[in-house]
This record gives sequence, structure tokens and C-alpha cells, in this order.
Amino acid sequence: MGKDVIVACDFSSKEQVMQFLDKFTNVKPFVKIGMELFYAEGPSIVREIKARGHKIFLDLKLHDIPNTVSKAMHVLSSLDVDMTNLHAAGATAMMQGALKGLTREDGTRPILIAVTQLTSTDQQTMETDLLIKEPIDKVVMHYAETAKNAGLDGVVCSPLEAQKVHDVCGKNFITVTPGVRFADGDVGDQKRVMTPAQAKIIGSDYIVVGRPITAAPDPVAAYERCVKEFIG
Ligand code: C5P
Repeated sequence: MGKDVIVACDFSSKEQVMQFLDKFTNVKPFVKIGMELFYAEGPSIVREIKARGHKIFLDLKLHDIPNTVSKAMHVLSSLDVDMTNLHAAGATAMMQGALKGLTREDGTRPILIAVTQLTSTDQQTMETDLLIKEPIDKVVMHYAETAKNAGLDGVVCSPLEAQKVHDVCGKNFITVTPGVRFADGDVGDQKRVMTPAQAKIIGSDYIVVGRPITAAPDPVAAYERCVKEFIG
């Protein structure tokens, strides 16, 4: 499984994202397009960024009945994205439906990963709002195993969980980890962070990095530093 740095393009318009991507003339980073940009600009933004030579992680976190998710994934797959995701809480039948919808006629498909529990959900929220009484670590690992058994390729998780996910689900099960900061950088609103070098040591497969690159005075240099620390 190839390791890579995925740049979170958390912009709200085509103009902003293109202005940012125009800075990358030699390298074409793997980029993450989230709900904000996708809902603002529609599927054409995916086609345009893809046509510029970038790999794309389309982060839309689908969660609905199996038939709806299967059909939606079919549409996303035809956009030629490289990675996409869903909520493992949608359960096995939904995840299997998603895989079916994603698989193209030639048998290829984007990498499909699951969100386990959102990092904005803590133990108390899980117990009071979702009525899940088990420890959150156990719940996260159970969701990861369920995703694996459904045939998914991996999970989005905190860098602090990546090692355990690999222990439980095997080293080929992909871990995609946000919450990455340079040792000398701003933490911002992220609470539990790791440097790219630490993420490499604990075995993250892909790191998702937003503001340390997008808000840097020299985004290309920041991206290159990230790649150097994470991949070497
Ligand atoms: O700017 P920053 O590096 O914090 O961006 C991290 C990206 O990863 C954002 O797009 C954020 O929504 C996403 N993300 C996260 N934590 C999660 C899941 C996704 O930070 N648990």
C-alpha cells in the first residue's frame, strides 16, 4: 500500500482552491475534497482537479440505506476519484452496497474507507446521545473490524489509534490519519496531534494535512517538508 500525504483542500470556492493548486507546478499532491467545496461547486470541481493530474480523496462520509448509498457510490466512482468514504455506523449491508456501487465494469474501484466514531464524539456523547455504553476505544475497534469484514480497505482514525487498528485488522488495512502538525507549528483546534515523522513511525498509511500546508506562507515548501518527514 503506497504511503502518501493528502492535502485537505478545505476551501469554499473553485477560485480559492485553484489559486492554491496553481502554486504546485512540479508536484501534483493527492488532495482531499470535502463537503464544503463539493456542495459549493458540484461534481465538476472533482473532474477539473482530476484533469490537472491530482489524485482525489472525496470525503463525503455517506450514511443512508444500502440501496441509496450503492447508487450514490456508483455516481462517485464514475467521477474517477481515488478514495472515498462512508460511516461504518451505516452497518454491513450498507458498506457492502457501497462496494458494489463503487466497482466499475472493469473491476476497478476507488479505495473505500470508513469513519468509525467521529473525533467530535466523546465517551459521554456516545453514552447519552447514542446509548452506546461500551468504552469508546472498543467501539472504534469494533467498527473498524466490521468495516474490514464487509470488505472495506481501511478507516479514518486518529494517529494515536493507527497502531491498534493495524494490530486488530492487519497491517494491510489502511489507516488514514488527520490531526498532523509540524513540531514547530500551530496546533489550532486539533487536540491530539502528531508530527508527520511520528505518524510514519506509528505506521499511518496516509496522513491528511490541511492548514499546516494551506495556510503556510509557502505551501509548496510546507508540502515538501511534510512528504520528506512522512515518506523520507
Ligand atoms: O487543517 P487540518 O490539518 O486540521 O485539517 C484536517 C482535515 O482532516 C480537515 O479536513 C478535517 O475536517 C479532517 N478531519 C479531522 N479529524 C477527523 C476527521 C477528519 O481533522 N477525525
